[in-house]
Amino acid sequence: MQNYTHHIPVKLCFGEGQIKVLGTEIKKIGTNVLLTYGGGSIKKTGLYDTVMGILKDAGCTVTELSGIDPNPRITSVEEGVKLCRENNIDVILAVGGGSTIDCSKAIAAGVYYDGDLWEMCSSFHGLLKSLPLVDVLTLSATGTEFDPFAVITNMDTNQKCGGMYAYPVVSICDPTYTCTVSAYQTAAGSADIMSHCFEDYIGREIGTEISEGLSETMLKTVMKYCPIAIKEPNNYEARANLMAASNIACAGIASYGKGGSGWPCHAMEHELSAFYDITHGVGLAVLTPRWMRYILAKDVSILPRLARFGRNVMGVTGDDDMKVAVEAIDKLEAYFKSTGIPMTLTELGIGEENFAKMAAQANTGKAMERCDISLTEADVVEIYRACL
Ligand code: NZQ
Ligand code: ZN
Repeated sequence: MQNYTHHIPVKLCFGEGQIKVLGTEIKKIGTNVLLTYGGGSIKKTGLYDTVMGILKDAGCTVTELSGIDPNPRITSVEEGVKLCRENNIDVILAVGGGSTIDCSKAIAAGVYYDGDLWEMCSSFHGLLKSLPLVDVLTLSATGTEFDPFAVITNMDTNQKCGGMYAYPVVSICDPTYTCTVSAYQTAAGSADIMSHCFEDYIGREIGTEISEGLSETMLKTVMKYCPIAIKEPNNYEARANLMAASNIACAGIASYGKGGSGWPCHAMEHELSAFYDITHGVGLAVLTPRWMRYILAKDVSILPRLARFGRNVMGVTGDDDMKVAVEAIDKLEAYFKSTGIPMTLTELGIGEENFAKMAAQANTGKAMERCDISLTEADVVEIYRACL
């Protein structure tokens, strides 16, 4: 087990009714608020009115940035930074899913960034000086509520770049706010949480039992509760367990003691979203079983971990590791399909025309080659092909 240092400076307020802390928490930070949100789901659910009422009672002045798209655009970041500077904003309140919160993190940092904002979003950097950010999470998926990352897209250049920005100061995570999330987004968000577990779990590191056990528990939890949340959207237990898994899975906790696998499925998926604007979790669900099959054929040293996944997560029995691993991957693909995810790129309207470009971009800085199970650009193209 490798050494690690971990500090998550986020006040996570989890559970039904936690919105009650919003006024007090915001007032501790500032009163000049930039309220950010997406395409309007918070207006339909009534959360917008609730939040506005709380901000009014807290004596806040509110400037709004709405219309933040899924796969949030650099243009929204630029607009938000301009609003912050013009209105002397002292705190950003993001209400929504990962896209709204990610965009708000980039805005928070962009306010202090002296230079081109796309250069900030597309370059590698650590935590940045930022305005304080509070969020109210409405979709269980990305883990952005408990991590410092954000992913911003430039549709003009077909680039989707993830990077570090800032941790939220406070994250309000009320599972009841996710009851209105569609079946499709529930399935996609759950696949995203699962991928956050898989990325470091399906690696060659051994002796990190705490991490392996946490990942296995989260995977089983998500596979148990996602179908329930789809069937019974108001099931609190299901929504709460998915939200708790969202909080933890991307926070680095289930990677304690590991060197980091390079997150190959995320690198490949970000290219799919950058070129075709697809839903992140859907792209991950399509890629993951194909990637598993590919690395199993390419490098048999991954077999013990895939067999362990088969036995401990997918409930496959038998003594033959290879049979167990193969059956587990098939079961995983069938599971994703059963949640309503279109499981081929063809169904998503994606052909092979950009595979080589996408593979080259995913391999920027030799990122794919440096993965735990190293992948060349030709390997990446083959994995995309297997998804057609
Ligand atoms: O825009 P609105 O109207 O709010 O509708 C959204 C959007 O259409 C809707 N939605 C959200 N909450 C809802 C709701 N609809 C009904 N009821 C609610 N309560 O769902 C749609 C998708 O929202 P989005 O925020 O895009 O989804 P998600 O949370 O999955 O975020 C995806 C983005 O996060 C990035 C992804 O790449 C993608 O850009 N990621 C961020 C990470 C991070 N910061 O750590 C890690 C992840 O791996 C991921 O890359
Ligand atoms: Zn993800």
